[in-house]
Amino acid sequence: MVATSLSPYPVDTSRIRAAIQALQPELVEWRRQLHQKPELGFREQLTATFIAQKLDEWGIKHQTGIAQTGIVAIIQGDRSGSVLGIRADMDALPIQEENDVPYKSQHDGVMHACGHDGHVTIALGTAYYLSQHRDFAGTVKIIFQPAEEGPGGAKPMIEAGVLKNPDVDAIIGLHLWNNLPLGTIGVRSGALMAAVELFNCTIIGKGGHGAIPQQTIDSIVVASQVVTALQTIVARNVDPTESAVVTVGKLNAGTAHNVIAATAKMSGTVRYFNPQFDGFFKQRIEQVVGGICQSHGASYELEYYSLYPPVINDERIASLVRSIAETVIESPLGIVPECQTMGGEDMSFFLQEVPGCYFFLGSANADRDLAYPHHHPRFNFDETALGMGVEIFVRCVEQYCR
Ligand code: NI
Repeated sequence: MVATSLSPYPVDTSRIRAAIQALQPELVEWRRQLHQKPELGFREQLTATFIAQKLDEWGIKHQTGIAQTGIVAIIQGDRSGSVLGIRADMDALPIQEENDVPYKSQHDGVMHACGHDGHVTIALGTAYYLSQHRDFAGTVKIIFQPAEEGPGGAKPMIEAGVLKNPDVDAIIGLHLWNNLPLGTIGVRSGALMAAVELFNCTIIGKGGHGAIPQQTIDSIVVASQVVTALQTIVARNVDPTESAVVTVGKLNAGTAHNVIAATAKMSGTVRYFNPQFDGFFKQRIEQVVGGICQSHGASYELEYYSLYPPVINDERIASLVRSIAETVIESPLGIVPECQTMGGEDMSFFLQEVPGCYFFLGSANADRDLAYPHHHPRFNFDETALGMGVEIFVRCVEQYCR
């Protein structure tokens, strides 16, 4: 039997592949420079300076300082046509890096532990390639967005008008994804990632002696019932064919074994895919908390925040990305449509405004110890994925702007 190559990135003699493979060492270099200088949301000054310097160097028109640290670059093809947006998030996380690599984070307690350094790099590589090969019809708008990890830079960038003038017809974006191995791509139409909502609730009872409960309203007993009852919202109020989760992730109350706690505080998160649930969980949680408190004579304070809507991909753009991904990785087995996650992403705000597709680019390589999960102090990804990302973006431009 003849051994066949199992490379996730097979040989391709096209002009695009050759140019991007020639660019690969620079992609790695940029990514490592960015990796050493991670910055938290809305503080991406060094990152923005790095991006702007590259764009200047390549003669690419761009605007800086959008929603504080965001940048929009505009690359025009050699003839007119559609406008495609490409979005890359820029921020890092408050995590102390534990990787022992020469390009380790130099910023104490801050780390690119989600791969956004790679996203910036892929977007820069795409910008560079397109600036050198303008044989496409239309305009590409590359949106470097701050603060994806929170509080969210997509919405302020949209409010600042990044999707206008020229108006973006469609938008694409990717996330390097260690939940998938290198050489696979997670893409699907419809919901990819969940809506993210969160709540803080304080149950206000009446404290007292642990042996004299009749004089008190025990906030711990009330809170316990609330936690249990909240689980019935998904189990009993949501169509079982839909997916949703209500998690109470934090519950604090009490000071001593013989003291009945006057207050109990809890915090939780809600996730769902179907946009029709907008407002539903807020209302149900308030009803459940209110009803249980009333039955015990307790009161409550509830804060509820809708952070990000669900990431919903357009069918047409998703199938474009899918067909291109199939050429880039050249294996139909490499496409993973079962890639939904209850994680959230503010790419969703762009996708609410214009049709588009957000997808996962497999970046884990267990053989090289590059398979730690996102947000882990040892997160790192296989940099081979950088070139793949550029190639997918470039081919999307060529297909969409033609
Ligand atoms: Ni991320």
